[in-house]
Amino acid sequence: MLIINIKGLVGLHPKDKLVLRGCELGKLPVLVNAWLLLENGLIKDFGKMNSFPSSIAHLPSYNADGRYVFPSWCDSHTHIVFAASREEEFAMKIQGKTYEEIAAAGGGILNSAGKLQNASEDELFESAAVRLKQMIFQGTAAVEIKSGYGLTTESEIKMLRVIRRLKDHFPIPIKATFLAAHAFPAEFKNDHQGYINLIINEMLPLIAKENLADYIDVFCEKGFFSVEETDQILKAGAKYGLKPKIHANQLSVSGAIEVAVKNKAISVDHLEESNEETINTLRNADTIVTLLPSCSFYLGIPFADAKSFIKADLPVALATDYNPGSTPSGNMNFVVSLGCIKMKMFPEQAINAATLNGAAAMEISKDYGSITIGKKANLFITKPMPSIAYLPYSFGENQVDTVILNGEIYHG
Ligand code: NIG
Ligand code: FE
Repeated sequence: MLIINIKGLVGLHPKDKLVLRGCELGKLPVLVNAWLLLENGLIKDFGKMNSFPSSIAHLPSYNADGRYVFPSWCDSHTHIVFAASREEEFAMKIQGKTYEEIAAAGGGILNSAGKLQNASEDELFESAAVRLKQMIFQGTAAVEIKSGYGLTTESEIKMLRVIRRLKDHFPIPIKATFLAAHAFPAEFKNDHQGYINLIINEMLPLIAKENLADYIDVFCEKGFFSVEETDQILKAGAKYGLKPKIHANQLSVSGAIEVAVKNKAISVDHLEESNEETINTLRNADTIVTLLPSCSFYLGIPFADAKSFIKADLPVALATDYNPGSTPSGNMNFVVSLGCIKMKMFPEQAINAATLNGAAAMEISKDYGSITIGKKANLFITKPMPSIAYLPYSFGENQVDTVILNGEIYHG
């Protein structure tokens, strides 16, 4: 496929640039007035229109006059397998109840788990597929999906099998994360070790046997899993080769960052709460800091301090956190807008954080996350726009016009 007359070809990072830190995050290489050639699902070549090679002039072409071509969004943190939405909690939230209060009143993760336990694998697959398709139409073409609404061996495995079906069904990379340590089921309220033993001795061996997960996650937070409990679970996961990506510092500074770094986490996600110590712990690690501003927007909790993380040279990624409780949206365009509007990231920083660094947080940045010769041709063509910054500026609008997956038009 040949795309010509592109107003701006965005995110031309060199092949060896696998993650962006500090001031590099603000550098978004763009080629104006360009052409782009895709072949066998890969990015084959690109250049300026004024030196368009006559050797490819005979190929059928897509005219992108006035439009930009972006690498697809890489959404490295989602919970899109769930049985039902939770808008009954929406009214409670509007009345002023906090996330913790709603959970204590029978809402929250346990509410979702009860519903998921009663749903069939087919039902879960169908509804998650609808969500994923909608995300792809909005420009996303790589996702991580977590379990964590099962909370029994049977239902956690059911969720992970649904994720595997999504992997088989969609032409995009999908990573599966095992998150049984999302909340303690009611019957283990006073027997935390009993549930942890179930995770370690029963769930993990079965999941490893079926090769159902790529990563392991723990909701390390006051009222959920303690630092010591998190450490135990991450160490057990490591025995099966599962690297951690953990929910850290969402509601409080809890020691989650320290335990994550100690266990060589690929990413620490949320960090709405942080302090100098959080930053110092992360300074000497390769761990990616994944920020989820739609969650702050919806819950009304603080936005993460993206600027301090970037200033400290940490690799910052942006993701949606799409889930029925804290972020009922999988729209990466809105995440990028919030990154700019609420976290004061520059458009270039937010776009890099949502593409190359998102790919890095799923360990796929060798093949995805930028427009680089030899990488997979997963991209989107915008509607006509005056500038790149117009995409995050025009929040709530959809500037994604045409979606290309593996070098072929998928939508638009
Ligand atoms: O990332 N914090 C934990 N997990 C989700 C919310 C889950 C839920 O409320 O259902 C999150 O925000
Ligand atoms: Fe989450």
